[in-house]
Amino acid sequence: MIGNDIHIAASLLKSGKNIAIPTETVYGLAGNAFDTDAVIGIYEIKKRPLFNPLIAHIGHWDMAERLSSGIPNVLRQLAIKFWPGPLTILVPKSDLVHDIVTAGSADVAIRMPNHPLTLQLLQLLDFPLAAPSANTFGGISPTTALHVDQQLGAAIPYILDGGACTIGVESTIIRANAQNKIEILRPGGISAELLAAELGYMPELLTHAAIPLAPGMLKSHYAPEIPLILGNILQLVNEHPGKKIGVLSYNKKIEHPSIIYSEQLTMHNDLHEAARNLFAAMRKLEGSGAEIILAEKVPNHDIGIAINDRLSRASA
Ligand code: TXA
Ligand code: MG
Repeated sequence: MIGNDIHIAASLLKSGKNIAIPTETVYGLAGNAFDTDAVIGIYEIKKRPLFNPLIAHIGHWDMAERLSSGIPNVLRQLAIKFWPGPLTILVPKSDLVHDIVTAGSADVAIRMPNHPLTLQLLQLLDFPLAAPSANTFGGISPTTALHVDQQLGAAIPYILDGGACTIGVESTIIRANAQNKIEILRPGGISAELLAAELGYMPELLTHAAIPLAPGMLKSHYAPEIPLILGNILQLVNEHPGKKIGVLSYNKKIEHPSIIYSEQLTMHNDLHEAARNLFAAMRKLEGSGAEIILAEKVPNHDIGIAINDRLSRASA
């Protein structure tokens, strides 16, 4: 059922159920992070391998302190600046956090989402919400309640509808290294430039190779059910004669007789608009009857880096 009643949502979560919740980035599939059965339910519904850890969503700063055995100052400073918002910090976990949430890691990922309904919901709960994106494993993240309903509607009792997500790509995941320098594990809604403005230096974006099995960081992810190829679209069109082609372009309409469906991420040159539209556009292309999706990268700065990261993984 889709609805917008936080009291229904709260009572389902208190009784150990899994429901979908809105955030500013993408919809999450939530459960009580302190209830191991509720956490296992998330993995089962998502068909997600157990080695892929979950983010704990919180509504109060106090909860961050309870979940961690010690938050490094630099991460504290960034969380205070950007929360609530699309930033996830990796910090040493406390004994309150069960291994099933962190997939056995000594670090827990925490974020305070910036969505009014979900922040109100969290105020009704005395536990954090473990929540991955509310899609089946490896698929396209949902940015509306309807997207969630199409994939997971039959498996969960409630989808809390908070409208279309305003950011549209997942949170930026950061940690502090041994020298206390910030590293980005996944580019996302808070750009490296915004972090740099706080830090006084540009944080390093870790490559796939540098991150052993921190999934979601899995190279192939966010993938539509038909092949997506990234490059110069017109050139790619010519390399695929006779195919029904779907096109995902940045800000220009691309025309060619072989193109049966096309999506443009922004009418202007607006990377934030492009981020908001990205996953919905990928879904529409998936359902368009095209046999192949040809896509191009967007300008590689600010939130464009997160968009290009998702496009690369979708094409892997
Ligand atoms: O914006 C977001 O972050 C969304 C919304 C729902 O909050 N959530 C999200 O969750 O994207 P998910 O599970 O799809 O991606 C979380 C990523 C995964 O790639 C996971 O590997 C990583 O965070 N992660 C979580 N806990 C971790 C940990 N303890 N150590 C390393 N990576 C971790
Ligand atoms: Mg995900």
